[in-house]
Amino acid sequence: MSTTLSSSPSPASGPEAVAVAAERRWAVVVVLIIALLIAMMVITGLHWASMPPSRVETVDVKSLHLRGEFVESNLGTTIEPDGSATVRLIAQQYDFVPHCVSVPVGTPVKFRLTSADVVHGFLLPNTNVNTMAVPGFVAEVRTSFAQPGEYEMPCHEFCGLGHHAMWAHVSVVPKDRFPAQGPLERTSCATE
Ligand code: CUA
Repeated sequence: MSTTLSSSPSPASGPEAVAVAAERRWAVVVVLIIALLIAMMVITGLHWASMPPSRVETVDVKSLHLRGEFVESNLGTTIEPDGSATVRLIAQQYDFVPHCVSVPVGTPVKFRLTSADVVHGFLLPNTNVNTMAVPGFVAEVRTSFAQPGEYEMPCHEFCGLGHHAMWAHVSVVPKDRFPAQGPLERTSCATE
């Protein structure tokens, strides 16, 4: 009798016990949700911290010349089906390949470049084009040229003894002077 009349009965059974068990279950669920959210923050934070800035694409620098987007036959300017131009380049000590690229005037131009050795810079004065070429990563810059003309393209990251001589050219030509090309042909002015 004395136990049943206790002032603080243990809620071992009855509706009170059901309520306590339900509360405990929900507490566990809430703790699990909070733990999941914290885990997601930590994982995405570490993932972002380990990615290159602006999440540029990566490329295998060891097979750059052998296969993939930056094989020699794919370097230079290509006209996409939508009429825009894509220019692919490799920067290496101490030149850009191709050394001279030509693009049509008044056309959206997308430069895609990477480096075969060390960090180089890619700059077109008086345009928005200014990026680094980092081995292992693809840099992509979009621009367009309103006037025909010749642009000097200096390397602006110190890359070794020949850095000061590392220049290339962009030749912006009238649309009717830009050669028609097949889908596998690439245009450059490197030999002109
Ligand atoms: Cu390449 Cu400086």
